[in-house]
Amino acid sequence: MSEKQLWSGRFAEGPSQMTLSFTSSLNVDVKLAWYDIAGSIVHARMLGAQGIVSEEEAQSMVDGLKQLLDDLEVGKMDISHDLEDIHTNVEASLTARIGDAGKRLHTARSRNDQVSTDFRMFVRDAVLETVGLLVEVQGILIERAEGSVNDMMPGFTHMQHAQPVSLGFHLMAHVFRLQRDTERFLDAYKRLNQCPLGAGALAGTGHPIDREATSAGLGFDRPTDNAMDTVSDRDFALEFAYACAQTMIHLSSMGEELVLWTSPEFGFAEMSDAFATGSSIMPQKKNPDVAELIRGRSSIAVGNLVQLMTLMKGLPLSYNRDMQEDKASLMTSYETLTSCLYMIGPMYRSLRFDREAMSKACAKGFLNATDLADHLVQKSMPFRQAHEVVGTAVQYCVKNGKTLESLSVEELKMFSELLDQSSLDHIDLEACLDRRSSLGGTAPEQVKAQISSATERMEAFREECFKEIARLNDVWSAMRR
Ligand code: ARG
Repeated sequence: MSEKQLWSGRFAEGPSQMTLSFTSSLNVDVKLAWYDIAGSIVHARMLGAQGIVSEEEAQSMVDGLKQLLDDLEVGKMDISHDLEDIHTNVEASLTARIGDAGKRLHTARSRNDQVSTDFRMFVRDAVLETVGLLVEVQGILIERAEGSVNDMMPGFTHMQHAQPVSLGFHLMAHVFRLQRDTERFLDAYKRLNQCPLGAGALAGTGHPIDREATSAGLGFDRPTDNAMDTVSDRDFALEFAYACAQTMIHLSSMGEELVLWTSPEFGFAEMSDAFATGSSIMPQKKNPDVAELIRGRSSIAVGNLVQLMTLMKGLPLSYNRDMQEDKASLMTSYETLTSCLYMIGPMYRSLRFDREAMSKACAKGFLNATDLADHLVQKSMPFRQAHEVVGTAVQYCVKNGKTLESLSVEELKMFSELLDQSSLDHIDLEACLDRRSSLGGTAPEQVKAQISSATERMEAFREECFKEIARLNDVWSAMRR
């Protein structure tokens, strides 16, 4: 054993190398180093202000920790793999630097409240970065939707042609999904932004600590309420993992759609070369690998959520070492999601839509059948009967290779006396699209309204996110003073 463990007093011998490497979390929690040092600075200051350690000792700890932070930022902080985690490493590095005063840092805190504090700060930044990226993607989709409120394409249900919609309307559907995802992240933020520091191992401490001060010093809204709950739950991480998984499910559906749309069978869009790849054997190929990988990687986020829920299910209060396994998967979900968000925006921006192919596709699949039935309803036929009449007309068209709009008035009359030239005007595809002007519908003025409300909401997200980033920047400059 080259390094002594923090808890070596109780033991006659050090742990075996096997135990040490089996229990170590350093490979993962090294990513919490910055937060761990920041938390320690604020904690040390509080210990001094409360007279729990002397002012000089507190100052010496703060100075040493600030140097550690500087070292970390330029990649010069020593990390010892003989020590089991980042918390231990920070304390050991501090003591190596400033001597005995460093041994007072862990007064009135435990790694149990420390790890939850660090992790919450990590997730807090992860939320802000994710929201920023989500806003970017929304902006790109909205921009593309703005230019296509009049471009008709088939809308599908069961992957069968259903009713005509506009490309703008279709793209806006994705925007609203991503806006709910954004809200989910911001909502999770409210619950996670409470400070665990001072919960101690599980029951608080007898030292006269000031939890309000450490909470404020780290930019949290307030300290958590119950020490035992604080060190034993990771629901904040699960909420984040769920928001990641849900967003990835949405991105996966977008990816799948692009795979279909760029296929020759659809031909609705062409991927720009920058977002496609080729085949090692088939020279003609242009494959939508980025879209496929986004679809594929959604499985990672879903799997990680299940892992985290399974991890926490059935743990007795309070801290259990199982909980160490909460970070790797959350971090992977976060990295997976953000890398997909980085790709998907530019991929949509550079996509070439083939409006002619979309419009041509509208001639197939009787997209105006519902409108013909609605027309009969306007002429006072009960809808159920109208449905039957039009169904029979469609059957006739299928047999004779015709479309509803190409039938003559005489042919129409075979199905109902109520049908006439005005019925044919009524089922003109453009008219069918424009007519769907109910709230939330595909008619151009409705899509424009959707674009403007989504834009407003997107701006609000952006502002909330930027304001919070600026607030945290102030917190961090105060911490480093
Ligand atoms: N590496 C540990 C974790 O991630 C830190 C907390 C250790 N606490 C303890 N009581 N052993 O959870």
